[in-house]
Amino acid sequence: MSNTPLYDAYRHFLANAGTPFTTPGHKRNPALVDDLLAQDVPHWGGVEGRRASGKRLQGAQRIAADMWGAAWCRYSVQGSTHGNQAMALSVGKPGDKVIVARTLHKSMFFGLVLAGLEPIWVRPDIDAETGLTVGMPVERIRAALHRHPDARAVMLVEPSYVGGVSDVGAIAELAHSHGIPLAVDAAWGAHLGFHPELPPHAIQAGADVLVTSVHKHLTGFTQSSMVLAQGDYLNLERLDAAFEGLHTTSPSGAILASIDRARGLLQERGEELLGNAIAWAEKARRRFRQVPGLGVIGSEIADRSPALFMHDPSKIVLTLFGTGADGHVVADVLEQRGIHLEFADRDTFCPVITLADTEQTIDLMVTEIIRAVKQHRGTPRPMVPIMAWTVKAETAMSPRDAFFADHERVAADQAVGRIAAETAAPYPPGVPALAPGERIHGDVLAALQAEAASGTRIAYCGDPMLQTVLVVRE
Ligand SMILES: Cc1ncc(COP(=O)(O)O)c(C=O)c1O
Repeated sequence: MSNTPLYDAYRHFLANAGTPFTTPGHKRNPALVDDLLAQDVPHWGGVEGRRASGKRLQGAQRIAADMWGAAWCRYSVQGSTHGNQAMALSVGKPGDKVIVARTLHKSMFFGLVLAGLEPIWVRPDIDAETGLTVGMPVERIRAALHRHPDARAVMLVEPSYVGGVSDVGAIAELAHSHGIPLAVDAAWGAHLGFHPELPPHAIQAGADVLVTSVHKHLTGFTQSSMVLAQGDYLNLERLDAAFEGLHTTSPSGAILASIDRARGLLQERGEELLGNAIAWAEKARRRFRQVPGLGVIGSEIADRSPALFMHDPSKIVLTLFGTGADGHVVADVLEQRGIHLEFADRDTFCPVITLADTEQTIDLMVTEIIRAVKQHRGTPRPMVPIMAWTVKAETAMSPRDAFFADHERVAADQAVGRIAAETAAPYPPGVPALAPGERIHGDVLAALQAEAASGTRIAYCGDPMLQTVLVVRE
């Protein structure tokens, strides 16, 4: 069998597409839609054929499961959002407790709403020097399990948005010693485990389920993702049913084929390409370290952070407060020069480096960031941690009860002390600072308003300037 059965079938179908009387309705007709949709092929009734059982997709997923050392794998066209929600539906039933990192992404939060799970929040450590999240201490999970022996799962975000990985192996062992699974949102970790200098991926480390975005760190189409699972602590049939229940019935063959192709590339050339990316990231860090005041995060952050097992050496994270430059201004300048950063707020930059970069692309990014920072230097500011890592969560109601409760929109000053009914998350990284069911604190609201005023996008709330807030009606 081919090593990329789904990708090959997709290519074959495109080359022999004939005259379709099927969806998609655009029929790839260039007279109407030019070449925008030329690659758009449905999975069912296209790549798999009308009467097919799905064996091409199953074959491709089997290869991926073997490659990650998992028992089960599914390809998704709905991002890690989909996998996180399927994962939440698989670990417990409404009313069950789960131990969850409060640095969770909003997609996992809505998994809790869908599944009716009751979160017991645990917060990772924060680095005093940079304000960045630096790992979930094993002892914090142990204490939470001690206080809540009836918890049904531990749910973590590993790696963190800024490339830190906790001791997932020790946390998996701990969860298993309580008879429950460890579920890991590894949206930013699809490349982990495929180069000796990278941290192991969560399945290697012993986690039971891993969700990852193929579009973030590998070479899949936007929206492509995977869920992988193993072990005796999860109900795989339920995970499969949840995955299926939440997945579109019309998955894009192009997106699924791109997952297969990305996985094939990782298998064939991953170590070489990731090795290059790691070496060039290290070279970039050396150049950034020449800039006075610029904070450059590297492997040494793991040396001073007891809860950090490793820092992803392909990840570049910069802090700007020591330069006095405003990250929003610098990022705008960079955009005008064609350099687009994944994350840029006033104080922090995360330019994403992947195995698709070249030495030239990285050199250019470094040169332009250094130039723009020098041009926009100012008086150094004190370090202020990103809100996402320091959220004060006081749960007053379960996320699901708050989501379905009667709501009203009130002025911000009237919202303080009330229970939030909506989500507000500075984006990226998309960690809810306000979330349904949590008591609204005045300082959190003020900080969100200040973020919004400084130009950060505050996502998922009705009023992105936070002058009004949706609260539970009392
Ligand atoms: C930690 C984390 N989990 C999940 C997601 C959702 O991933 P996707 O955009 O692939 O749905 C993101 C997106 O940025 C994320 O940062």
